Amino acid sequence: MNKPHVAVIVGSNRRESINRQLAEALVGLIGDRAETSFVRIDDLPMYNPDLEPERPEAVTRFTREVKAADAVLIVMPEHNRSLPAVLKNAIDWGSKPANDNVWSGKLAAITGTSPGAIGTAVGQQHLRQILGILGALVMGGEAYLTYKPDLIEDGRITNEGTRMFLQAYIDKFMGLVAKLSGATQT
Ligand code: FNR
Repeated sequence: MNKPHVAVIVGSNRRESINRQLAEALVGLIGDRAETSFVRIDDLPMYNPDLEPERPEAVTRFTREVKAADAVLIVMPEHNRSLPAVLKNAIDWGSKPANDNVWSGKLAAITGTSPGAIGTAVGQQHLRQILGILGALVMGGEAYLTYKPDLIEDGRITNEGTRMFLQAYIDKFMGLVAKLSGATQT
């Protein structure tokens, strides 16, 4: 059986995004249990129904890549105690047309980091609610991290305790990915 495919979405369009660094470290924790690919969202135009008759190429690429994945891993910052607009915009594009909503039935896990004391917890709750409304299967549990400059070095989580915590979160996710992607292939 082919390996499952996990699409990784970074909820930031910042060049030096700490969430991209975290996402890259998490891909390392997935290891060879899945094919992984990063799905761009920073090139998507602002959602506008007027663009629907002829969707921009970036949008059709985005929806195609999400649809093709067995699961999505979303790694996000928090903006004003919610999800960043660039991520909400991507969610909106994927939700339309309603009869072709890419989030419906999609397994998803959410995590993220920010320098704040509750490192993206509130933003993640908002995203969880939105994805739930759209019919995604959002993994339970929480993983939010307060970013410190030495959190990640050479693509690895430096702190042993933090790495073990994230490894357990990823292992739980990969267990669900294996179960659900196996179920759809039989
Ligand atoms: C932030 N930041 C932030 N951090 C946080 O913990 N809670 C918050 O509500 C906010 N709000 C917020 C709003 C806006 C408009 C910006 C630009 C920033 C700080 C933010 O987490 C920080 O910039 C991170 O570095 C963002 O992650 P990336 O983009 O580097 O991945």
